Amino acid sequence: MSDLSRRDAVLTAMAAVAAPGVAAAAAPEGFVGLQQAIEREVAGLAARPRTTIDRIQGLLAGAARAGAFEAWNGHRPATAEKVTLIGGGLPWRKWKVQLFMIPAGSAHPPHCHENLASCLVVANGRLRLREYQRLREHDARDSVMLTRAFDGELGPGQAIATTEDYRNAHWFAATATPVLAVNFKASGYARPELLRFANRRYLDPTGGRGEVFRAPFIDGDVARQRFARHPL
Ligand SMILES: [Fe+2]
Repeated sequence: MSDLSRRDAVLTAMAAVAAPGVAAAAAPEGFVGLQQAIEREVAGLAARPRTTIDRIQGLLAGAARAGAFEAWNGHRPATAEKVTLIGGGLPWRKWKVQLFMIPAGSAHPPHCHENLASCLVVANGRLRLREYQRLREHDARDSVMLTRAFDGELGPGQAIATTEDYRNAHWFAATATPVLAVNFKASGYARPELLRFANRRYLDPTGGRGEVFRAPFIDGDVARQRFARHPL
């Protein structure tokens, strides 16, 4: 694919984000099958979150192997950017697949989730990642209790899975080169008693000592200021 047609593909996808009503029509034809396959899987999210996320992760990894996201490799935004490709669901429970373009040296600040299941598959580049297990029984109004679950790097085809009970907190960044990653997230499926909105909560795990530690919640602006422009 030429640079020009690659750029056109990116612009088409961005136009689809600006005008949600045309998202399906503007999506490259190759994504219709992925949309239908995910729509079949999401029904299992409430009862079997981990199994369902693993299966969806497999679908995304297969699409990445088949080159479905290659067009976005040439797009290098100055700051982290997301493009929504496909989605589905209802107003109170929704899912979508987004591409995350993470510039070299920048991060998605540490955060945990409520009422959300997700996976992130690396399509290109190397993702520096820290994951934490959240000990929900010790949740407090201003903080969560965490244990360290993973600290390392992921390459193309490797992935993170997140559910209410599994590695609910994470922090990831691109190091020397940009990262292209494909993200699935479904909000509102796990705990219908909660609103599906505001399902990301920022926290600061850097004061923690030892294997089990408390991490305070922090404001989104503080999180971006403190973490977004640094690799881990
Ligand atoms: Fe997350």
